[in-house]
Amino acid sequence: MKTIGVIGAGSWGTALATVLAGKGWNVRIYDVDEQHLRRMEASRENTDYLPGVALEDNITITYSNEEALKDADVVLFSAPAQHFRSAAEAARPFITDEMLIINVAKGIERGTHKRLSQIAEEFFDMNRYVVLSGPSHAEEVGRRMPTTVSVASRNQEAAEAIQDLFMTDRFRVYTTEDVIGVELGGALKNIIALGAGIADGMGFGDNAKAALMTRGLAEIMRLGEKLGAHRETFAGLTGTGDLIVTCTSMHSRNRRCGLLIGEGMNPEDAVKEVGMVVEGMYTAEAAYELAREVGVEMPITNVIYHVTRGELSASDAIEQLMGREKKHERA
Ligand SMILES: NC(=O)c1ccc[n+]([C@@H]2O[C@H](COP(=O)([O-])OP(=O)(O)OC[C@H]3O[C@@H](n4cnc5c(N)ncnc54)[C@H](O)[C@@H]3O)[C@@H](O)[C@H]2O)c1
Repeated sequence: MKTIGVIGAGSWGTALATVLAGKGWNVRIYDVDEQHLRRMEASRENTDYLPGVALEDNITITYSNEEALKDADVVLFSAPAQHFRSAAEAARPFITDEMLIINVAKGIERGTHKRLSQIAEEFFDMNRYVVLSGPSHAEEVGRRMPTTVSVASRNQEAAEAIQDLFMTDRFRVYTTEDVIGVELGGALKNIIALGAGIADGMGFGDNAKAALMTRGLAEIMRLGEKLGAHRETFAGLTGTGDLIVTCTSMHSRNRRCGLLIGEGMNPEDAVKEVGMVVEGMYTAEAAYELAREVGVEMPITNVIYHVTRGELSASDAIEQLMGREKKHERA
């Protein structure tokens, strides 16, 4: 019997809790939003973020990190990327040397431009640390629809332990050691999804979306290789796989937010309208600054950043992208 403490009762933390509970594990969920936890406890459902998915009896709602992590085997961080640092800081006193640590958030920290595992290094033993990512909407995982993800760790044993923890006939898990590639694929595709949404909102067609996805992947790979990722990782689940799912799905908040912007709503209102975390809005800023810092050309990220800040209209962004100087496709 394993006990898992889930830190962050949003849609993804809850969906993963149901996968783990479905395997018979003992799952405890904690969140900083106490009122949200109270509603979950009363209805035995995450009505705010994952409505329609009943919580199994072996999922316990807890009101502190201490209660969630007491004697736990695994801690799973599912707070949004920009809150990972504070979540890690608050949980650290209750994390023992024996626990495995999973992070499922996707993003790059604003200001520091750190990947989340670089933040984790400040707090944890990285031989116990595993990243879980891939094409996986909470809404589908919560309904037991077939899903595949990858888990990445510098320590293959830790990755395999987390693979075993999650694997079911509906949730298939691969392992990899490319933490950098997995983290960058998951974080940066959200920016491209904003762009795909904007294109949809402006009434463009499949050609524009395919172009954004493909050229988006090209710039993600360019930054990834510069930062030490393996090129092939971007052809895998956490690269191309996640890019496809995010750019084409109605479940993607980043795409939905882009859609509203493309239809003419200002970016701040679009985020409010979506109502849940739109990671791409923050990652766009961090990635834009990081790309400049390391000297990597990222034209799509560049325009999305300026559009999300309200400094560039969606139509001027398209004009800028289409009017760039001639290039070789693999340059
Ligand atoms: N939703 C998905 O389908 C999905 C899939 C894969 C990955 N992700 C990633 O998972 C992360 C979480 O996304 P989500 O969709 O569950 O977000 P969400 O908006 O549904 O919920 C986030 C939850 O985190 C809580 N939270 C914020 N700060 C916290 C802290 N310091 N400690 C504990 N809880 C805290 C909030 O109160 C909220 O309940 C994001 O990085 C997202 O990119 C989401």
